[in-house]
Amino acid sequence: METVQWKKFLIPYEQAVRELKVKFESIGHEYHMLNQYSPIELVTGRVKTIASILEKARKKGISLSEIQEEIDDIAGIRIICQFVEDIDKVVGLLRERDGKDLWIVEEKDYITHTKSSGYRSYHMIIKYPVYTAQGEKKILAEIQIRTLAMNFWATIEHSLRYKYNQNMPIEIHERLLRAAEAAFKLDQEMSTIQSEILEAQELFQLRSNIVADIIKNIENLQLIGNLSEVADIQQQFLKLWEEGDLEKLKKFNQQLDMIVQIYDVQSLS
Ligand code: GTP
Ligand code: MG
Repeated sequence: METVQWKKFLIPYEQAVRELKVKFESIGHEYHMLNQYSPIELVTGRVKTIASILEKARKKGISLSEIQEEIDDIAGIRIICQFVEDIDKVVGLLRERDGKDLWIVEEKDYITHTKSSGYRSYHMIIKYPVYTAQGEKKILAEIQIRTLAMNFWATIEHSLRYKYNQNMPIEIHERLLRAAEAAFKLDQEMSTIQSEILEAQELFQLRSNIVADIIKNIENLQLIGNLSEVADIQQQFLKLWEEGDLEKLKKFNQQLDMIVQIYDVQSLS
C-alpha cells in the first residue's frame, strides 16, 4: 500500500477510536452528573502506527490484503478503573451493548488467567460500524479494561520490553514479576478500602436520616407538646448529637416517636 491508501485505510479506525472514546467518557460523565461513583476513571485511545501495523503483519505472516481481518488492534481503546470490581461493571456495560452499537467478537480474561509475564487486563475484541463519507465500514477494535495499578505495571513493562527487545535480562524479568505481584496486592488492598469507604458512606447516610427524623419529631412536638418538655428534649438531642453515638440517637428517636404518638392519641380522644 502506498501512502495515500494508508491514509484512507486508517480513516475509519481513527473515527472509531474518537467515537468509542466519547461513548465511554460519556458514561463516566453521566455517573458524575448524578453524584454517583463512576466505574470508569479514564479512557484513552490510539490508532496503531503504520510502522507497527507492518511490523506485526511481518511477524505474524499476514499479507497486506489480510491486515483488516487479521489485525484486531489497529483501533485500541483503554478503559482505566479505580477498583478491580469496576472492571466487571464495565464488562457488563459493554455486554449490554452487544448487538446494538457494537458486536463482541472475543473476550480474554487475563485477570483470572494472568499471563506468564505478569500481565493482567480484561480484553474485548469488538466489531464496530463506522459511517464515513465513504459509506459504512465495520472495523475491529480492541478494548482493554484494567485498573490503575494494572495500567501502571503494563506501561512500565511495555517500555522495558521495548527497550530490551526480546533480550530482557533475567533479573529485570524477575523484578517485573515481583512488581506484578505488588500491583496485584495493591488492587486487593484498594478493594478492602473501597468496601470501608462504602460502609462509611452508608453509615453517614443513616446518621443524617436519623438526625432528620429527630428534628422532624422535635418540630412536631413544638406544635403539640409543652414548651419546657420540648426545650428539655432539644438539650438531650444536642448532647447526643455531640456524642455522635448512632445507637443512642436511634433509641432517642424511637422515644420521640412514642411521645409524638401519645400526643396524637390524646388529641384524638
Ligand atoms: P497480539 O495481538 O499479537 O499482541 O497477540 P494476541 O492477539 O494473543 O493478543 P493478547 O491478547 O495477548 O495481547 C493484546 C495486547 O495486550 C497487546 O498488544 C498489549 O497491548 C497487551 N499485552 C498482552 N500481553 C502483554 C504483556 O505481557 N505486557 C504488556 N505490557 N502488555 C501486554
Ligand atoms: Mg491481538
